[in-house]
Amino acid sequence: MRSAILGVGHYVPTKVVTNDDLAKLMPTSDEWIQQRTGIKERRFIERDGIGASDLAVPAVQMAIERAGRSMKDIDMILFATLSPDVNFPGSGCLLGDKLGLPGVPALDVRNQCSGFLYSLSVADAFVKAGAYKNILIVGAEVHSTGVELNERGRDVAVLFGDGAGAALVGPSPSEDGGLLSCVLHADGAGAKDLWLPAPASNRIPRLTHEMIDRGEHYPQMNGKQVFRWATEKMPEVSVEAMKAAGLTAADIDLFVPHQANMRINELVARRLGLPAEKIVHNIERYGNTTAATIPIGLSESFAEGKLGAGKHVLMTAFGSGYTWGAAVIRC
Ligand SMILES: CC(C)(COP(=O)(O)OP(=O)(O)OC[C@H]1O[C@@H](n2cnc3c(N)ncnc32)[C@H](O)[C@@H]1OP(=O)(O)O)[C@@H](O)C(=O)NCCC(=O)NCCS
Repeated sequence: MRSAILGVGHYVPTKVVTNDDLAKLMPTSDEWIQQRTGIKERRFIERDGIGASDLAVPAVQMAIERAGRSMKDIDMILFATLSPDVNFPGSGCLLGDKLGLPGVPALDVRNQCSGFLYSLSVADAFVKAGAYKNILIVGAEVHSTGVELNERGRDVAVLFGDGAGAALVGPSPSEDGGLLSCVLHADGAGAKDLWLPAPASNRIPRLTHEMIDRGEHYPQMNGKQVFRWATEKMPEVSVEAMKAAGLTAADIDLFVPHQANMRINELVARRLGLPAEKIVHNIERYGNTTAATIPIGLSESFAEGKLGAGKHVLMTAFGSGYTWGAAVIRC
């Protein structure tokens, strides 16, 4: 038995923040950001009090509706995020409460940019084991409250945006459709190339004024190193996933990569021999929404009629951890 994505949805906050808006807060420019990353604007939450689980609610409603299911059909929640509403409990529990699903199990997946693919793989295993039939997987992030909007933080701050994507996963309704392969990897040797060092349970105390003064409560990134790894690992794992699915790049109709940098994705697609018109991108409008990039890409592709029956979709992600992966579905 195969699992399949039965419905996809997304939601982004209404507040648009352009590159020019950021240039008022830090020494940067629209030209620098667009040239290096392809980002033109991103969305930020409109006010205090909106968390990743809040952004997830409308995304889930869209996914459930498109799947032809109702909320009460959901029997498991997997919530991928690096920006949970609070440190604990997990955002999956908070989301379950907001959706009115008391008693439904909820598991947070902390795999950053690869979180959606890791969640998809967990959902697939649950479906194949017969444990659950309508598994909600969510990727949602609020980055805007966690980046440093000044000169010190500009390398990271210009990259990220807020948003949510959701998918409902269950047994495949068609015999030949569904998830054909999902390949995952991790290598903690690169952990400090993109991480958030504080507060940390291995520090006594976990958070000090000095740590805050040094900005350790903001993400730290070695951009060049991440770029190098991403452009090597995303093509490599994509080939692994296509092989596992018994396909080649020529069979792929749509390529939905994680959205960290337009230049990374163009390079990856070129290495795979995929033409530009098959690449899905939303980075120019939303920036990097981490665990949400792939489900947002799937949801917008669905709305554009690109996920017709029989289409082969390749997804791949690389990010903090390092973690990376790829999956192939037949719609
Ligand atoms: C972040 C990234 C766009 C930076 O591009 P880059 O070409 O490597 O740029 P550099 O780091 O060499 O920085 C070039 C200069 O721009 C400056 N700079 C950094 N951020 C800037 C900003 N927002 N605006 C203007 N200048 C900036 C740097 O300080 C540096 O100045 P210097 O040459 O005087 O030292 C690129 O490295 C990248 O995309 N890496 C991958 C990041 C990623 O994918 N992260 C998420 C993983 S999921």
